Amino acid sequence: MIEKVPKSTQSLPHKLIDQFGRQVDYIRLSITDRCDFRCVYCMSEDMTFLSRDEVLSLEECARLVKVFVGLGVSKVRITGGEPLVRKNALWLFEEIGKLKNLNELVLTTNGSQLEKQAQDLKNAGVKRINISLDSLEATRFKTITRTGELDKVLRGIQAAKLAGFKNIKLNTVLMRGFNDDEVLPLVDFAIKQAIDISFIEEMPLGDVNHTRESTFVSNADTLKLLQSKYPLISSTETTGGPARYWRVADAKGKFNTKIGFISPHSHNFCESCNRVRITCKGELYLCLGQEDKIELMPLLRAHPNDDQPLITAILNSMAVKPKGHDFDLRRAEPSIIRFMSHTGG
Ligand code: 5AD
Ligand code: SF4
Repeated sequence: MIEKVPKSTQSLPHKLIDQFGRQVDYIRLSITDRCDFRCVYCMSEDMTFLSRDEVLSLEECARLVKVFVGLGVSKVRITGGEPLVRKNALWLFEEIGKLKNLNELVLTTNGSQLEKQAQDLKNAGVKRINISLDSLEATRFKTITRTGELDKVLRGIQAAKLAGFKNIKLNTVLMRGFNDDEVLPLVDFAIKQAIDISFIEEMPLGDVNHTRESTFVSNADTLKLLQSKYPLISSTETTGGPARYWRVADAKGKFNTKIGFISPHSHNFCESCNRVRITCKGELYLCLGQEDKIELMPLLRAHPNDDQPLITAILNSMAVKPKGHDFDLRRAEPSIIRFMSHTGG
């Protein structure tokens, strides 16, 4: 049965523009809530994961991405959980890599599977990789990730370089008393490896038992520390998100490492927000810090051969994309008790 587009959306342009005039051209899709790590800021020690039919199939993921690309989305980030632990994830990357109007297919990973998969991902058309790395000390790395092996991740980073990825970026969540004394070693490592690094302020998501007020490290302090060691040049580069970038200037032009600071608590990026998130359950979240969501899985499953209901729902969702988020560190409880592994990092 072919369903008609309701009148209200017939006149809408087939682009995702919200009520504040912001165009959504970037989606972040989580393809699994599972992960081989249990990072303290992301998961509790024993997690209950979703069952197979509660998460989108890879075919459903591919269909969804295609629909979004048809609506003007030009950048897709695949996240998790750990996306590369999902069986046959490569197939999805290959499918998305074939889409004509997509500019950038990018990946966020913990690096544990890159040693095996980096080359295939490159061949599939993945353009950039963000790799989480919170410590360069093996025992600490284990404390933070609970199950991770530092060596394996370091080998993964090398594999990504060997596969020819040019824009590799490390993501570091700084936590007082865990790894806040590793800012300089991590930046030195990034410079030596000719890759970029971003420091992410911890967000009030996930495990309530991990108290953030005592571990919170502000990016302003991190920046001050780095400025005392390196000549940093502020950069105007932006991805429309909460990251601000600096470049480490080297007089001889030998290195040009980009250092990002991601402050999810600041509000000043909301006005240029260009993104939405889709969880592995097919929930479309219009803002990381708000609960507004649209369930896409029922539409995918009720209309396996007709994308129109899905397109209509996505177009209509633009009317409820909120103006800004609502994080507040001073609250005792995480304001949004939603695991990052559901929503995607
Ligand atoms: N705060 C900040 N970043 C987080 N991530 C996961 N949980 C949190 C949190 N509570 C980010 C990490 C990881 C990516 C997958 O998600 O940076 O690298
Ligand atoms: Fe896994 Fe990433 Fe969460 Fe760590 S932060 S547990 S690597 S999904």
